[in-house]
Amino acid sequence: MGRMAGSAQGRAELVAEAVLPVVEAAGAGPWLVAEDDSGRVAAALKAAKWSRWSQGDDAGAVAPPADPVAQAALRAPPDAQALTYAAARLAAAVPAGAPLWVYGHNDEGIKSAGKRLTGELWADAQTVATRRHCRIWRLTRTAAAAPQGLDPWWQAGAIDLGAGPRPWWSLPGLFAKGKLDAATALLLAALAKAPPVATTLDFACGTGVIAHAVRAANPAGTVHALDADALAVAATRRNVPDAQVALGDGWRAVGDLRVDRVVSNPPIHAGKLEDFAVLRALVHEAPAHLNPKGELWLVVQRQVPVESLLAQVFGRVDLADEDTRFRVWRADGPKER
Ligand SMILES: C[S@@+](CC[C@H](N)C(=O)[O-])C[C@H]1O[C@@H](n2cnc3c(N)ncnc32)[C@H](O)[C@@H]1O
Repeated sequence: MGRMAGSAQGRAELVAEAVLPVVEAAGAGPWLVAEDDSGRVAAALKAAKWSRWSQGDDAGAVAPPADPVAQAALRAPPDAQALTYAAARLAAAVPAGAPLWVYGHNDEGIKSAGKRLTGELWADAQTVATRRHCRIWRLTRTAAAAPQGLDPWWQAGAIDLGAGPRPWWSLPGLFAKGKLDAATALLLAALAKAPPVATTLDFACGTGVIAHAVRAANPAGTVHALDADALAVAATRRNVPDAQVALGDGWRAVGDLRVDRVVSNPPIHAGKLEDFAVLRALVHEAPAHLNPKGELWLVVQRQVPVESLLAQVFGRVDLADEDTRFRVWRADGPKER
């Protein structure tokens, strides 16, 4: 496998090339294309686009445009709940009897997508093509009414950060299903030993666990949070109502914001593939978003080569804590040149 084929971008191109001949032969639009991370499928079909995830300057959205379309196509998200959610939201734009084309790579769970989506909103799942380790499903819209808004999707749970369980809200496809992740727990334990600061940014906030912990430890401080996923932003706004929560792809979300501390359990995958692009941008651009004496805290799996990355950018890099799976890093100060 070449370098591109093993990258998230290479995978997106490969999947687009597999589906393009099928959808181009599928008849007239207008089309709605969802989660097309290569951009090639929507461009070829001159389609309206939807993604829950922000990518570059394209902001994610919790739902697609409501304008009715003749057909829709969805690159299946690997997460089963995210797949169900995306197909249900697309159903609002697709009339009864019209098709939804669902496509993806075998490594991303596409083999079970047809069966998984067969139900109240979508019927007659058929595999119409398999090629290049990809599969393309065709489903037909039923006449059942599509669910509207986020209300049917909220998942009520609880989280305990040491002060007893408190209600916690999640949505389909969010990190750790709205639970406290083991890496995040290690990061929060290390952070609890550090003095509070006035302004903190939870970078890649998920459901807002870090933002909530920082706020609870220092109610007088200001907490900012960002995530590329529109559903993560909605959940953090609900869980941490007094945080300033922004939607966007990495640092694009917060403009020229500067804070005293950036804290992150960063994404290290794009889909199922390892991808350090967001982590690299987080570290390289962090100094431009830190006040003088500001610091960056990160937790990553032990094998992620983050120490050398931090040392390229910061004058001081400390291992704040570690266990058998994860390491917590703290970095500050300018790099002497
Ligand atoms: C490992 S999870 C951490 C979530 C949360 N901070 C926690 O500890 O529970 C990483 C988060 O990064 C988000 N993410 C992925 N790509 C991103 C990007 N380009 N910009 C901002 N956030 C991104 C994902 O949506 C996900 O919520």
